[in-house]
Amino acid sequence: MATATAAKPAKSDASFTDTATLRAQARKHIDQGPVTQSFPKDREVIIAQLNKSLATEWVCVLRYMRHYYTADGLVSEPIKAHFLEHANEERAHADKLAERIVQLGGEPDLDPATLTQRSHAEYQVGKTLKDMVKEDLIAERIAVEAYRELIAYVGDRDPTTRIMLEGILAQEENHADEFRDLLEGWQGE
Ligand SMILES: [Fe+2]
Ligand SMILES: [Fe+2]
Repeated sequence: MATATAAKPAKSDASFTDTATLRAQARKHIDQGPVTQSFPKDREVIIAQLNKSLATEWVCVLRYMRHYYTADGLVSEPIKAHFLEHANEERAHADKLAERIVQLGGEPDLDPATLTQRSHAEYQVGKTLKDMVKEDLIAERIAVEAYRELIAYVGDRDPTTRIMLEGILAQEENHADEFRDLLEGWQGE
């Protein structure tokens, strides 16, 4: 004999918005595009935080390119390749963040005059190759912590933003891991 609970659907219809309401809501505010009724009410806070991450990514692109151009000597060749690869990946992160800011109805702030003040990470040039790698590791650790915090804040309220941030976070963790390994095996200055 089937039990009463097994026969019940997992969720009653009352848990979901009825079709007529869904249709009516979608017709309102069509200028907001993908931003619909149940989006987090603190969307502006999320957009502001995404803009801080956007500034961070651009500062990281610029710092990695500076390191790429100024690292010299035969020893530095494989490390230069890392600098360039990371610069390209940070640039791709910046693209994703800017696109999401626009989708959420915000404006991506790319004003170079205020970039370093708005960025979490610093633009540290580093005197030696080892300094550069150390500064890059620190910047990656800053990014990891900031992304973890933002992911926790967004939670399940905006899955698209969260999934994007999780993808970026995984790459920042890889970057930090590579530089930690490099520093651990470092010979000389
Ligand atoms: Fe990044
Ligand atoms: Fe990174």
